[in-house]
Amino acid sequence: MLKGKTAVITGGSRGLGEAIAYRLASMGANIVIVDVGATDRAVAVCERCRSEYGVKAGSYKCDVSDFNAVKELSASVKADFGTCHILVNNAGITRDGLAAMMKEEDFDRVIAVNLKGAFNMIRHFSGMFIRNREGCIINIASVAGIMGNVGQCNYAASKAGLIGLTKTIAKELASKGVRCNAIAPGFIATDMTDSQTENPLLGMIPLGKMGSPENVAHAAGYLATADYVTGEVLRVDGGIAM
Ligand code: NAI
Repeated sequence: MLKGKTAVITGGSRGLGEAIAYRLASMGANIVIVDVGATDRAVAVCERCRSEYGVKAGSYKCDVSDFNAVKELSASVKADFGTCHILVNNAGITRDGLAAMMKEEDFDRVIAVNLKGAFNMIRHFSGMFIRNREGCIINIASVAGIMGNVGQCNYAASKAGLIGLTKTIAKELASKGVRCNAIAPGFIATDMTDSQTENPLLGMIPLGKMGSPENVAHAAGYLATADYVTGEVLRVDGGIAM
C-alpha cells in the first residue's frame, strides 16, 4: 500500500514511534528514524524494518528543536532517500509540575521539542511534499491537549498548539495535495508512562485499560492512506476524552 514511499518518524527509536515505524514498514514504506538519543536503538529498529519487511531504512541523530539541525537533516534525507512522502512528528517529552511552581526552562523545553520541533520538521520537509504534489503529515498530539491535565501545563499547551498547527498546515497545504492530521493518544503503555500506572485517571477510561503502541500505530497506518481525510484529530484513547 505504501510501497516506494518514504516515511520519516521522529522519536522513532522506541515507544509509539518504534511501533509506527514497524506499521508503516509492514505497509511497504521505506523508514527514516530521527532521534536525539539511543543511536543503538534506532539502528536496531532500522535493522528490523529491513529484515522483517524488506524495506530500506536509515537512522539519523537529530534534535528536532534545533531549526538548523533539522534543515541539515532534510538535506541528508533527500540525498539518501530521494524524497519524503510521510512525516510523523512523534518526538515528545514531559517535564511535569504545577504551573505555580514550574521552572521557566521546563516550560520552554517542552514547547521547544513538542511544538517547535514539529514546526521545524514541517518547515524543512514540506518543500519535498509540495514538489511531489503529494504528502502526509501526522502529528502525535495527546488528549492532554484537548482536556488539559493537572501538572502538565507545558505539555498540554504544546499538544493543544500542535492541534492548531495541524489544522493550519492542513488548510495551507491542501491545494498542494498534502494532508495533515493529528492523533491524540490517551494513556498508552510506554517508557513515558511507566510512572503513571497508579494514576487515578486510568480508572476513568471507558474501555477500562491502557492502550498499546500498536493501537496508535494502527491509527497512523490508517491516516497514511486515508486520501480524503485532512485536518482531523483522531483520538486513540479508549474513550477518555469523550
Ligand atoms: P518515549 O519517551 O517512549 O519516546 C519518545 C522518543 O522521542 C524517544 O526515543 C526520545 O529519544 C525522542 N526524543 C525526545 N526528544 C527529542 C528531540 N528533541 N529530538 C528528537 N527526538 C527526541 O515517548 P512515547 O510514549 O513513545 O511518546 C511518543 C509521543 O506520543 C510523544 O509526542 C508523546 O507526547 C505522545 N503521547 C504519548 C502518550 C503515552 O501515553 N505514551 C499519550 C499521548 C501522547
